[in-house]
Amino acid sequence: MSGAILGISAYYHDSAAALLVDGKIVAAAHEERFTREKHTSEFPQHAATYCLEEGGLQISDLDCIAFYDKPYLKFERLLETYHAFAPQGLKSFTSAIPVWIKEKLFMRKMLNDSIAKLGDGKVKILFPEHHLSHAASAFYPSPFEEAAILTIDGVGEWATATIGVGKGNSIKILRELDFPHSLGLLYSAFTYYCGFKVNSGEYKLMGLAPYGHPDSEQTNLFKKKIVDHLVDIREDGSILLNMDYFNYATGLTMCDDKKWLQLFSIPKREQESELNQVYMDLALAIQQVTEEIIYLMVQTAKKLTGSKYLVMAGGVALNCVANGKLLRGSIFEDIWIQPAAGDAGGALGAAYAAWHIGQGKPRQIVQGQDSMEGAYLGPEYGSDDIKRTAKKYKAPYTYYEDFEELCKVVADLLDQGMVVGWFQGRMEYGPRALGNRSILGNPCLPDTQKKLNLKIKYREGFRPFAPAVLEEDISEYFDLDRPSPYMLLVAQVRENRIKPLPENYNRMKMYERLYHLRSDVPAITHIDYSARIQSISKKTNERFWKLIYTYKQKTGYGLVVNTSFNVRGEPIVCTPEDAYRCFMRTEMDYLVTGNYIFHKKDQPKLVETDDWKTKLKLD
Ligand SMILES: [Fe+2]
Repeated sequence: MSGAILGISAYYHDSAAALLVDGKIVAAAHEERFTREKHTSEFPQHAATYCLEEGGLQISDLDCIAFYDKPYLKFERLLETYHAFAPQGLKSFTSAIPVWIKEKLFMRKMLNDSIAKLGDGKVKILFPEHHLSHAASAFYPSPFEEAAILTIDGVGEWATATIGVGKGNSIKILRELDFPHSLGLLYSAFTYYCGFKVNSGEYKLMGLAPYGHPDSEQTNLFKKKIVDHLVDIREDGSILLNMDYFNYATGLTMCDDKKWLQLFSIPKREQESELNQVYMDLALAIQQVTEEIIYLMVQTAKKLTGSKYLVMAGGVALNCVANGKLLRGSIFEDIWIQPAAGDAGGALGAAYAAWHIGQGKPRQIVQGQDSMEGAYLGPEYGSDDIKRTAKKYKAPYTYYEDFEELCKVVADLLDQGMVVGWFQGRMEYGPRALGNRSILGNPCLPDTQKKLNLKIKYREGFRPFAPAVLEEDISEYFDLDRPSPYMLLVAQVRENRIKPLPENYNRMKMYERLYHLRSDVPAITHIDYSARIQSISKKTNERFWKLIYTYKQKTGYGLVVNTSFNVRGEPIVCTPEDAYRCFMRTEMDYLVTGNYIFHKKDQPKLVETDDWKTKLKLD
């Protein structure tokens, strides 16, 4: 037994691989970052190869490979669902089932064939259930010896949500909610109806919700219609969906558009069409209903376990607005959420389940610290890689021997309102960029948000940006009394930083409201005065911490705007070459990779000076 386990998630969306050696995470990465196909469902050939290389291992060295769900159970669910809903399902049965017969039923063969491409040698494959993988990804790397576990997603094999308890190295699932009744799929149905893509647009729907008018007649009517017609919410947080309104069990779309039109009196929004107030109110209504259901589930988890702490995973756990409210609700003393809460994190969870449950190995917990290493678990690149990219693209750059000097230059650029690509160290695992594959901006300037959305990210103007704040400065800016290292908590900007609203505010159009200055850090203050916070600790990301610290020395502000290093529709960059190409395709001003600052050929070059102010000079 080598103690090495490779976890795999694949064939649905967000494929990924993770390597655990003696219970410690050695590497974890999403396949999309290597193939550049966002949310790819392909077997994670590149991610798995990277993980093995990082561990210096061959396939034959592994104890086993752990796959993140049980394909046969999933197949059984599909057959039974079609049977139960026949004959409505016949059309999609004939189009979906052949795919399953071809691909899913023979998953074992597909898996074996793909694994064979990773190298020679026979290796055992284990199949922990999907929600057990999520539960394992939430509990085992958490800082708690004992905790209640809540997993919520669209659907695994049958389960759509579970409540469990973790103690030492064991996990016990206590309650399970089964397909077709699913909070994740309910939220996805609204994502679809509001004109966003299912499985990726949920985050946009959450971002849209605060533009809805709280307590307006329209929002309240939508909420009433949701709970009267679509979802029966029980006291324990379990739900029953009225399947007359949903198509996902048998059809090829999420919901019955005609019935939803009758119910809500608004048609399905076409993708990319203008966002009207009514869709914002609908987004707010479903966000509020979702929060109520999560809250009830969390209360049940408390009742069933009596634990002090809660851990969460599954795609719905990425709903950071709900998470912030949970924390303020104080049902549990503390909450830890797996940063790769979606299906990519299932790869890590499956490996953990194989180690602690399959092999019965004990957990080693460092008190007060999780085992995710800040989620910086992906590949990193050195000076040679950066120089190779510079040579290939004849890219102009300035090299800084002294990193602290570089921080001063970048702090100065940010202060001048420049947008800077920041590429350092190991790539993040999970959907958020946490300061190693990030684009940074000045949080105090009124036009940072507009510039980032429209000129760099090429995405909807309403999308908010998040602050990366020095861990020790969180409570200077936000009503939050603890670190939020994975950008999974939302809290309010502190009252003393807030500016009053004009009288005609409610009559303003969405975009006018969006760009209204709400605080002294407007670029990260959301429309409802909240912020999606990431705290930076010197311990887990010293380089990013140093940059923000230097920025604070210069400006007095211990925070910057942090958004993921990608453009709309593309995965976050992985290599220095990806970063350079993204830099050149956008109006980003400067790119920092390692100790190199790249500029554009027609842009001012940075010239080092002995004083703190760096001068800009045209080539
Ligand atoms: Fe899942």
